[in-house]
Amino acid sequence: MSSKTLDLFLNENLEDLKGKGLYNEIDPLESPNGPMIKINGKELINLSSNNYLGLATDETLKQAAKTAIDKYGVGAGAVRTINGTLDIHIKLEETLAKFKHTEAAIAYQSGFNCNMAAISAVMDKNDAILSDELNHASIIDGCRLSKAKIIRVNHSDMEDLRAKAKDATESGIYNKVMVITDGVFSMDGDIAKLPEIVEIAEEFDLITYVDDAHGSGVLGDGAGTVKHFGLSDKIDFQIGTLSKAIGVVGGYVAGKQELIDWLKVRSRPFLFSTSLTPADVVASTRAIEMLMESTELNQKLWENADYLKDGLKKLGFDIGASETPITPCIIGDEVKTQEFSRKLYEEGVYAKSIVFPTVQRGTGRVRNMPSAAHTKEMLDRAIEIYGKVGKELKII
Ligand SMILES: Cc1ncc(COP(=O)(O)O)c(C=O)c1O
Repeated sequence: MSSKTLDLFLNENLEDLKGKGLYNEIDPLESPNGPMIKINGKELINLSSNNYLGLATDETLKQAAKTAIDKYGVGAGAVRTINGTLDIHIKLEETLAKFKHTEAAIAYQSGFNCNMAAISAVMDKNDAILSDELNHASIIDGCRLSKAKIIRVNHSDMEDLRAKAKDATESGIYNKVMVITDGVFSMDGDIAKLPEIVEIAEEFDLITYVDDAHGSGVLGDGAGTVKHFGLSDKIDFQIGTLSKAIGVVGGYVAGKQELIDWLKVRSRPFLFSTSLTPADVVASTRAIEMLMESTELNQKLWENADYLKDGLKKLGFDIGASETPITPCIIGDEVKTQEFSRKLYEEGVYAKSIVFPTVQRGTGRVRNMPSAAHTKEMLDRAIEIYGKVGKELKII
């Protein structure tokens, strides 16, 4: 018999969410997560995945994963420190370090796990973290886990960052102060002002931490936001995910050898959670090698992104401050945003609405994620549907 208190809690809260229209019904896909997807038998142009380069369904990577399973099996069998470190884990980390132009790298089971692991391995209750207000949920949770004082910084506001860095370092209260930011902000597609952040960090001796989940494979010819700005030797922690542009699953931290050595002995998801599966490791390694060998997919991604952005802008949509393939169409009103997304679905485009509390109230948007795998025909059709639905709902 389950707890009555739990039942009451669940019923009340689920009903509350459903009553407010905030309960998220999840759509199961009946197809791979490619540029076209199938839901309830309906074929849709997919503008919702993070599969930037189309690698989630790449034939070479599928083959690499199958070969890894044949050689190593389906699981790594243990946490890394016991005997879950296979030679392919080492190769993945060496490849990641090369990709990120750092001395070393460490792989985790997800990007979310990286932030749980890395922040609290270095920061504690005697420290402070300057955190951009639009940082990803996993950064926020990683900061909370560390018990350091979290100092919220206005989004990409360098004056605010400088003032708060000065206060924090001159207060004498904290042993260490870190500045932490997304490389590319996932809801607006704008890029962190890393050159200014580095300048402030150097002035106040801040530890620098960039989570580049949406920048890797996208900016810097694929190497990421830090490389895009030529700052590879100036950022202490470079975090990435293997689940977006890389197309698989997992995450990593790249940085100095001593930092990686420390994370291997002190970061808890590394020490207490089973390591990445052989198939994931080998497919990710091959994907990164492919990105280092050729920029073709990266170029195709940007070509498609520019094409879609241009088409949506010409129709009169507000795409906000986007500087990357992440293309929001900002509608504002939450109800209208959800209606817009529903109508797009009916017409054949899968682009999810994103509303409060994920973004600020009154800034509801439909977020588009073009990829290298979309064809011009798919993008043309999507733009046509956006025009039709936008006019019907008097958004444009
Ligand atoms: C900035 C950032 N960090 C971390 C993550 C989590 O990555 P993963 O899906 O690999 O756990 C995301 C995913 O949305 C992200 O945008």
